[in-house]
Amino acid sequence: MCGIVGYVGPKPAASLLVEGLKRLEYRGYDSAGLAITSDKGIKIGKSVGRVSVLENLVKTTGGFDGFCGVAHTRWATHGEPSEPNAHPHSGLTKSGHTIALVHNGIIENYIPLRKYLADRGHVFESETDTEVLAKLVAEVYNGDLEKAVQTALREVRGGYAIAVICDNEPHTIVAARKGSPLIVGIADSAYVVASDASAIIAHTTQVITLDDYQVVRLCAGAEDKKGDGGPWAVDFRTTTIDNVSVAREVTELEFDLEQIELGGYEHFMLKEIMEQPEAIRNCLRGRIDHREGRVVLGGLSAITRDLIRAHRFIITAQGTAYHAGLIGEYLLEDLAKVPARCEYASEFRYRNPIIEEGTVAIAVSQSGETADTLAALTEAKERGAIALGVVNSVGSTISRETDAGVYLHVGPEIGVASTKAFVGQVAVLTLISLYLGKRRFLSDEVVKAYLRQLETLPDLVSRVLEQSDHIRKCVEDCIDRDNWLFLGRGYNYPVAIEGALKLKEISYIHAEGMPAAEMKHGPIALIDKGMPVVFVATRGSQYDKVISNIEEVRARGGRTLVVATEGDEDIHKYADAVFTVPDIAEPLQPMLTVIPLQILAYHAAVLRGHDVDKPRNLAKSVTVE
Ligand code: M6R
Repeated sequence: MCGIVGYVGPKPAASLLVEGLKRLEYRGYDSAGLAITSDKGIKIGKSVGRVSVLENLVKTTGGFDGFCGVAHTRWATHGEPSEPNAHPHSGLTKSGHTIALVHNGIIENYIPLRKYLADRGHVFESETDTEVLAKLVAEVYNGDLEKAVQTALREVRGGYAIAVICDNEPHTIVAARKGSPLIVGIADSAYVVASDASAIIAHTTQVITLDDYQVVRLCAGAEDKKGDGGPWAVDFRTTTIDNVSVAREVTELEFDLEQIELGGYEHFMLKEIMEQPEAIRNCLRGRIDHREGRVVLGGLSAITRDLIRAHRFIITAQGTAYHAGLIGEYLLEDLAKVPARCEYASEFRYRNPIIEEGTVAIAVSQSGETADTLAALTEAKERGAIALGVVNSVGSTISRETDAGVYLHVGPEIGVASTKAFVGQVAVLTLISLYLGKRRFLSDEVVKAYLRQLETLPDLVSRVLEQSDHIRKCVEDCIDRDNWLFLGRGYNYPVAIEGALKLKEISYIHAEGMPAAEMKHGPIALIDKGMPVVFVATRGSQYDKVISNIEEVRARGGRTLVVATEGDEDIHKYADAVFTVPDIAEPLQPMLTVIPLQILAYHAAVLRGHDVDKPRNLAKSVTVE
């Protein structure tokens, strides 16, 4: 979703801000803008479309000189994508100074605030909620930007991450957050503030994160803070919106620049698909004790007893993470023999859920910032559940809100279409299920056998990846078809719906996924000659039943693309195209069977000429409801 970058330091800010915005492009946006302060005042530039348009505007217009500024990529919520609606928004103080502000989140009470400010003479240029906040800061500004931001934030309801500048304090950025991520990078003689670590990593790995309702004031400049020659000085301080000082710990960012660069691949999605063997290795590293045949999860050790005694697990997530959570539901019931349900976080939070004693809520999230998932977790916690996180992004809001958790450790995921995070989520949910299973009902031998197979996964995934060209050729044959079905049963039912989601989000082809048996209850009416139907039909308990479903599709002229087990020669009788995966125990199959579907979606999008890493209307991290 929207992205924020701010810079204050010894270098010209504009080009650094544009570079930072480029690093945030993957998050999804429709317009961009920046504001720079200098002794000539604040200069704002905005554009609709790509950051490159803004970059061009900055170069051709000139005047964006200065060493302090804020920038933004906007994903429209209030008002269409347009220059007036793009950030930064500005306000004029009573003393004639300009405030410029960028914002992620939603100001819920913006309507009464807008009226209040209009009555005081502020003239609005946009339809956004954000402009209200810029004008509110200006309204209460009395020569101290930090105080003005604190005062304004005490009046707003909703969620925000903001970065604010004022031409009266040209070496200062004030930033704050509530419910939306914000990180401050501490570089040599400079500060970089951003909504996402990828915009910071080129400058520094030293960061502080803010908690909700916290404000940070970042100053870097000549010691008199006016830039007229004193020695260079940097200082920051953190407070609450009630101006109580708070100490923040400086931590080290976990990833490096290489991980967020393309490294020779055409797209991040392809890179992330291809690096899945390594991602799984990293995820499993140190978590399997061979000698004792047990799972080691340090993040759960403090509450292991409560987890063993738990009566019920609720898994909550959205999108791809929800599909991983569905597999987690199967895993927990199958391996740990504990009742488990996976629910859309957005539904769970509003349906007055009953949380009995001994309930564990697991939030599954790549970003750790998904608004609905966070809210569902908070709801479950308030009702007495133990809160666990299965999260990729270290230090993210969800990871900080949980009682315990297990990180994915699959490295940063830049591609909007989630791939390696899905496999990491399923791997972690498998580990958790075995961790509990061993302490509940599973025999040592069974656990050991699963662990041995888990360790072979990276190599098995590599074997599936080798079929990329073959999959592309098969996709070429049906790339003109606008409706696809994805079907699977048992552990491979969530894989089928994940395959459908992957295809629709990047290729814009309409695709539906469902349990294979459900097809007969309606969707079979869709099948006509040549309609692509993707089946996951690996060897397992429901193999014969899936074969019957394939025959039903073929009888109606459908074109069947089948994910099958290596060595299954019979499958060719039923399939127009076959993608194979190595044989593995059924609970571990999703981590293999999903791979051909990711590759299929990728090639379909490329063949249709779409920008795989910047799919229309999509954001990497959905930080608003
Ligand atoms: O960051 P999260 O895992 O919480 O994100 C959840 C979904 O928004 C995300 O998985 C989304 O569905 C992806 N675009 C799927 O590829």
